[in-house]
Amino acid sequence: MNVETRAGPSVSIIPGVRALRPVVVHAGVFRLDQPIIITIDGPAGTGKSSVARALAARLGLDFLDTGAMYRAAALVALRRGITPDDPARLVGAAIEADIRFDWSLDPPAVLAEGEVLDDELRTARVTGIVSRVAGIPALRRHMVERQREIAKKHPRLVTEGRDQGSVVFPDAPVKFYLDASAKVRASRRAAQLAAMGQHADVAKLLAEIEARDASDMSRRDGPLVRPDGAIVVDTSNLEFDGVVTELERIVRRKAEEP
Ligand code: DC
Repeated sequence: MNVETRAGPSVSIIPGVRALRPVVVHAGVFRLDQPIIITIDGPAGTGKSSVARALAARLGLDFLDTGAMYRAAALVALRRGITPDDPARLVGAAIEADIRFDWSLDPPAVLAEGEVLDDELRTARVTGIVSRVAGIPALRRHMVERQREIAKKHPRLVTEGRDQGSVVFPDAPVKFYLDASAKVRASRRAAQLAAMGQHADVAKLLAEIEARDASDMSRRDGPLVRPDGAIVVDTSNLEFDGVVTELERIVRRKAEEP
C-alpha cells in the first residue's frame, strides 16, 4: 500500500480512516544509524507488541514493551495482596520491586524483585487488574521516568504502549498508532486461546476488550490517545507481515540516508 493520506493532528495511511487537515511531512530529520526513538501506541489486540518487536529487529533497534512494566507492577501487587484501592502501598511495592529488563535476552525479560517474570504476566489474574493499576497517577509518573531512563541507555529504540508518543516521547521522529475494530481484536484473542487449547467465548472477550479500552482511554493520566503527528494504521484487514513491512517502509522513507 503506497498511498499515504496526510492528516493533522494524526496521519492516516489507511483508506477509510478519516483524514483531518493536511500537514507537511518532514522527511530526513533523522538517520537510522543514529539514536532514534520510534513509538507505537494503540489498544490491546492490534498486534502492537509483535509488530513493534519485528520492526525493531528489521531496523536493528532495541524493543521496549511498556505494558509488561505495568503488568509486572500488577503482579507484584497481587503477590503482596495489595489492591489498586491502596495506591500508595501499591506504588511503594512497585518501586521497591525494582522492575527492570534483562536486555541480554530476546525479547528482553522483565524482572521484579530480581526474578524473571514470564508467562505469569499474561495470566487472567494480572490482565484483570492491570488497567486499574496503570490508572494510578503516581505509578505512571514512576514508569514514565523509568522509560526515559531506559531510552537514555538504549537510545535506538522501538517502544510500544499507550502513551509513548503522547506523553513519554512526544518528540519522537516517528510515531505510529495501531488500531483495529474491537470485534476483530476479540476474534484474534479467541483464535490465540483456541491455539493454546483454551475455550474462548468471543462475546465475553469482546466485552472485556471494550471495558479495557474504555478504562485506558478515560483515565486522567496518560490516557490512550492518538498522539499528535502519529501515523494511524488500521490492522483489521492486514496480515502481520504486511503491517511490519508497511511500518518499515514508512520509517526508511522518512529517514535520511547515512
Ligand atoms: O499492552 P498490554 O496489554 O501488555 O498493557 C497492559 C496494561 O497496561 C493495559 O491495561 C494498558 C496499560 N498500559 C498503559 O497504561 N500504558 C502503557 N504505556 C502500556 C500499557
